[in-house]
Amino acid sequence: MRAAIIGFGNVGREVIKQAKKMGAGIEFVAALSSRGGVIVRRPRDAAALERLAEEGRGLGNHPSFTPGLGLRELVEEAGPDIAFIAIPPSYGTGEPNTRMYSELATMGVSVVTADKTALALDFWGTLNEFARRGLRIGYRATVAAGVPVTDVAWALRWRGVESFEAILNATTNYIISLVAQGLSFGEAVERAIRDGYAEPDPTVDTHGWDPAAKVAIIASILEGRSVSVKDVVREPLREGLEEMVRKAAGEGKVIRYVATYTRGEGILVRPASLPRDNVLAAVKGTENAVVFRLEGGEVAITGPAGPAWRTARVMVGDALDIAGGFDERKP
Ligand SMILES: NC(=O)c1ccc[n+]([C@@H]2O[C@H](COP(=O)([O-])OP(=O)(O)OC[C@H]3O[C@@H](n4cnc5c(N)ncnc54)[C@H](OP(=O)(O)O)[C@@H]3O)[C@@H](O)[C@H]2O)c1
Repeated sequence: MRAAIIGFGNVGREVIKQAKKMGAGIEFVAALSSRGGVIVRRPRDAAALERLAEEGRGLGNHPSFTPGLGLRELVEEAGPDIAFIAIPPSYGTGEPNTRMYSELATMGVSVVTADKTALALDFWGTLNEFARRGLRIGYRATVAAGVPVTDVAWALRWRGVESFEAILNATTNYIISLVAQGLSFGEAVERAIRDGYAEPDPTVDTHGWDPAAKVAIIASILEGRSVSVKDVVREPLREGLEEMVRKAAGEGKVIRYVATYTRGEGILVRPASLPRDNVLAAVKGTENAVVFRLEGGEVAITGPAGPAWRTARVMVGDALDIAGGFDERKP
């Protein structure tokens, strides 16, 4: 399988490392970052790409880096069968992300993505754009990465899920735990950025865009129609969290940043006060969890979501499924 890496950051670099560790037999023929890219023309280009991935360095340090290289040019010259997309999300306009998916589909390239943008804006439209050309898009890494939430959502699709509650963002877990330890909200956000948990723009997490995008994807699978991230009501984590955490502790409760989906009513992402024996109250650090309510009972799934190396292993698995013709929607 010939693959291109679109976005050579934490996740993109790990895809190269983990594919090798997993013996996936993937040949990396090109890589792209925001300022240009690399086409692998010789064995020494491949070796240099692998070295940058191992050393955690940017693509601009590659001896064959071409500034300004575009996606179309890269695909035409390198001819990948599959593209791993690991670029930052863009929920406002959707661009340049959604255009890149369309370009790849038009050029006959299947995709494995960690970026939620296109699926969170129009899940079924994106899937169909690939499917009608006989291509595939692997997206297990977009929701809770290490926890196979999208697989569970597919499995529960016809079972009449009435609602679900979820914790799907490790950064806000971390910020809440720091506030519980006595830091102010502002200090906790700064610390989360410094410790590599939060994006340089922390509002993707604290304003709920990230969990909203994940819930939109789950809801789209369950409902068989596209539910947009823009339809999710988001209540940001903000100043005042300190008081909420203190008050909850006084009542024997904990604060968690919870996404709630109710069929026919919509989706809400908000800081919620939970009794300590609630399944979601036990979710800490990089863990994610979803509790689906159906048939008078609950199906719960929980586990470690990230970090980048685990996300990359999930993506390599998606690529191997695509190469092997496995489709979770077609037994
Ligand atoms: N970290 C995780 O565990 C995890 C888990 C699940 C999903 N994700 C998702 O995976 C994606 C990547 O995360 P990350 O942690 O790897 O981010 P990152 O370290 O910030 O890397 C992003 C990379 O994308 C490149 N990029 C930005 N715009 C681009 C464009 N228009 N064309 C080509 N490349 C572009 C950047 O280029 P420069 O180097 O030039 O800036 C950088 O190399 C995000 O959407 C994130 O939400 C991450």
